[in-house]
Amino acid sequence: MLLFSVISCNDKKEKVTKKEIGLITKQAMVVSARVEASKIGTAILKKGGNAFDAMFATEMALAVAYPFAGNLGGGGFMVYRKNDGEIGALDYREKAPLAATRDMYLDDDGNIIKGKSTIGAMGIGIPGTVAGVFEAHRKFGSLRVQEILEPVIALAKRGVVVTAKQEKRLNNYRPLFDKVNKDSITFTHKWKENDTIKYPALAETLIQIQKNGKDEFYKGEIAKTLVKFIQDNGGIMTLEDLEKYEAKWRTPITFNYDGLRIISMSPPSSGGVCLAQIMNAIEPFELDKFGHNSTKAIQVITEAERRAYADRSHFLGDPDFVTIPQKELISKSYSNKRMSDFSFDKATSSADVSYGNVEIIESDETTHYSIIDQFGNAVSVTTTLNGAYGSKLYSSELGFFFNNEMDDFSSKPGEPNMFGLIGAKANEIAPEKRMLSSMTPTIVEKDGKLFMVVGTPGGSTIITSVLQTILNVHEFKMNMQAAVNAPRFHHQWLPDVVKMEPNSFDKETITELTSLGYTIDETTSRIIGKVSAILVLPNGTLEGGADKRGDDTADGF
Ligand code: DON
Repeated sequence: MLLFSVISCNDKKEKVTKKEIGLITKQAMVVSARVEASKIGTAILKKGGNAFDAMFATEMALAVAYPFAGNLGGGGFMVYRKNDGEIGALDYREKAPLAATRDMYLDDDGNIIKGKSTIGAMGIGIPGTVAGVFEAHRKFGSLRVQEILEPVIALAKRGVVVTAKQEKRLNNYRPLFDKVNKDSITFTHKWKENDTIKYPALAETLIQIQKNGKDEFYKGEIAKTLVKFIQDNGGIMTLEDLEKYEAKWRTPITFNYDGLRIISMSPPSSGGVCLAQIMNAIEPFELDKFGHNSTKAIQVITEAERRAYADRSHFLGDPDFVTIPQKELISKSYSNKRMSDFSFDKATSSADVSYGNVEIIESDETTHYSIIDQFGNAVSVTTTLNGAYGSKLYSSELGFFFNNEMDDFSSKPGEPNMFGLIGAKANEIAPEKRMLSSMTPTIVEKDGKLFMVVGTPGGSTIITSVLQTILNVHEFKMNMQAAVNAPRFHHQWLPDVVKMEPNSFDKETITELTSLGYTIDETTSRIIGKVSAILVLPNGTLEGGADKRGDDTADGF
């Protein structure tokens, strides 16, 4: 086992040694954005539940403890690998309502109406989370739902202690809560660190789901209350929308990288396809020799990212609606062709790489959790409301926020939407279509065995954060916690800048990259990813990687 992460920057002839070791457990682990959720997931495993039972519990516990992104009113993706090697993926992404139209966010002149897809009821996609956890449980669960929800309901009643980071987030978004909601909501109160927020309405909602199952949410009293609330607030969702919602099993994207087998999310997420494209493109280069975050390593990764993101914006959308040349995109030969004009002497210009000339900006308000159970099953889940607290619309009666996932569509093909996402025909709005995602829940095998479970929030930076976490372990020999904490950078074709976490990169490297024609953006970068990961160490024990950038916590036994 590696107790120290040794980052050797050959280019710089310098060595950085960091002592960053995550929680080590023998049998099972849950890593999530909040200690309460990790502990509830672990408690379910301790009761004899498996990773899918723990998924149900952790997802619901995040909806209570982490309303910023955890949700009943959003959606997500799950990638699994069972102990016998069987793999699969579950898509519980939100869908556009039946009444949605391609131009629903445009005014009469065809211009995007600011805020319409992001703030309030019009931004809401049909929530998929409840369908998702029930479907995973139906197929693979072992404990009863009643039992799984018990500790979650108790948590909602008991309340959750506000952390310093949470106090800050609530302060930032309070003005928007006031603007969007007709009445004051729980979060309008000026909560301070160490206060306890209780969630009685959410507890009651969970009790109804515990009693009546998934149908309560999609057809029952909750469905009626939910639809009435959204319509009263100007939204277009109907009972039929809810009734028709289904989580879908998908075939995950799989590919090999330097002896590893990567299993990741397929469309309607772009995560797996883009990750495959980037890793295929960088595979021929000796990254380990270049050194972690060295000029050459950053160049190769940046150029691979530039090309993959250009393709993302053009080709990818809901596979039930558009034909995606997936096989070609993730083939080694395609990536080799795409990299044929790359040179270490000079940055490629994004203008020479592909379509429009627009900016992609995404937000950081999703959440990922990773689980390995005592039986060797692994689950990797990324779930989201899209923006922070989603649409900011909160049902005080039901006790949860609704997503603003509709903004992940391109409101106007060929142009960026309100979040700055690139618009393309493949991702235009249509009734019942799923919006394109960047979420990248991923599982890695080494020598045919489970090696890593990894994922993160971070909008478009999700894919590149997952990439760097895998590379940090595989190429740069870091242990899990160090790999998660290490400084990250990001390029997404447009804007043509390398975003870097501030004050984290070698000044000489930045100077070199600048002279090669790269525009470095160190100042305005937000957090690039907030990774939750688990590594299976050579002796079979597990090491957690809980990102220092958040309140993330590993728990297990
Ligand atoms: O599905 C997506 O790609 C976005 N809705 C994810 C948003 C996100 O990651 C925001 N937070 N981190």
